[in-house]
Amino acid sequence: MKDVVRGLTPLALHADRGLSLVRGEGCYLWDQEGRRYLDMMTNYGVNILGHGHPAVNAAVVAQLEQLTNAHQSFDTPARRDFLEALAALLTPALSRISFANSGAESVEAALKYARVSTGRTTVIAMHRAYHGRTFGALAATSEAKYREPFTPMLPGFRHVPFDDLDALEAAMDDTVAAVIVEPIQGEAGVRVPADGYLAGVRARCTARGALLILDEIQTAFRTGAPCAFSATGADPDILCLSKGIANGLPMGVTVTTEVVGERIPKGSHGSTFAGNPLVCAAGAATLRVLADPELHLRVRRLGAAFLGQLRALQRPEIREVRGRGLMVALELKRPATALIKALQDRGVLTLPAGATGIRFLPSVLIDERQLGEAADVLAGAISDAADHRHL
Ligand SMILES: Cc1ncc(COP(=O)(O)O)c(C=O)c1O
Repeated sequence: MKDVVRGLTPLALHADRGLSLVRGEGCYLWDQEGRRYLDMMTNYGVNILGHGHPAVNAAVVAQLEQLTNAHQSFDTPARRDFLEALAALLTPALSRISFANSGAESVEAALKYARVSTGRTTVIAMHRAYHGRTFGALAATSEAKYREPFTPMLPGFRHVPFDDLDALEAAMDDTVAAVIVEPIQGEAGVRVPADGYLAGVRARCTARGALLILDEIQTAFRTGAPCAFSATGADPDILCLSKGIANGLPMGVTVTTEVVGERIPKGSHGSTFAGNPLVCAAGAATLRVLADPELHLRVRRLGAAFLGQLRALQRPEIREVRGRGLMVALELKRPATALIKALQDRGVLTLPAGATGIRFLPSVLIDERQLGEAADVLAGAISDAADHRHL
């Protein structure tokens, strides 16, 4: 769908999906022809409560009429409300926070805070990691296709295999400021590490005086617990959140322990729009819905059933099905682009996960019937694509 407005053409940074989306409600999106799509991607997991959630909409509209922006040196009730809502979901050890407008910015702050609070410069990140596209976040991201066009990278970053504690141990030394890791790797295709891995990373960081940065930008609130690290014993020194926290409005936060926070010099980091009252209102309303423990139990149950449905497809074209909660990927033996397109043509929107994966990051308010519909459409599309030798 060519998108030229008075001579301005967006850079061709993303594959064109050929749709113009005009409206969203709950788990559905509509295109300009009035066709409805089941949204199993929610723009990389952003609309975690679906589109047009009434509580979030009401909070945003009310805030819009009161105050949309204020310099961060002023207190605002919306920001206080957001802080209260987030604090209720985090361990008390995470007590300091700064605001950002995106995931990459949240990671950028985390890396800066790790350096300044430890006085060290090295950062260890993982193979296949994705942390965003700004220069700091990009240096932690591992894929060559994102890095190579923009070399040289920020120095001081080492990459080790994910889910490999021996490799991590071998890379640790007294120059390491932090280890940054996604509790479940998202862009890499929903890679869930072995039980005990995150606790092992935590222990190695503690032993070496390095900080643990957990990037929960994709995992938070969709794996059946508020954070994916919740029951792992791997409490971070720095936690990055973004994507779903304001249900579609651009927001990120970097949360630190007191020890880290008190070493960050006043005025050393910030961003004009970050933590503005409008996004805080959206964030507070979103987090209040996500505070319901029943919701996380439901995510666990629905996710397990959906994983079961995908695994039961038992098609020879499928290599593996992975996931936890409502963060799921299906890995094919061949490139997935044709199948993603076929699903879209059948009214189901999904994301790629690497070259051969299809990723599902639906709203956590999706229901059993809608997940069943996605699984059925997928089964039909795989079978058709296989018949036409597209897989
Ligand atoms: C784990 C993780 N970290 C960071 C980012 C970057 O977030 P953003 O695209 O908002 O900059 C993403 C985005 O996909 C992500 O999945």
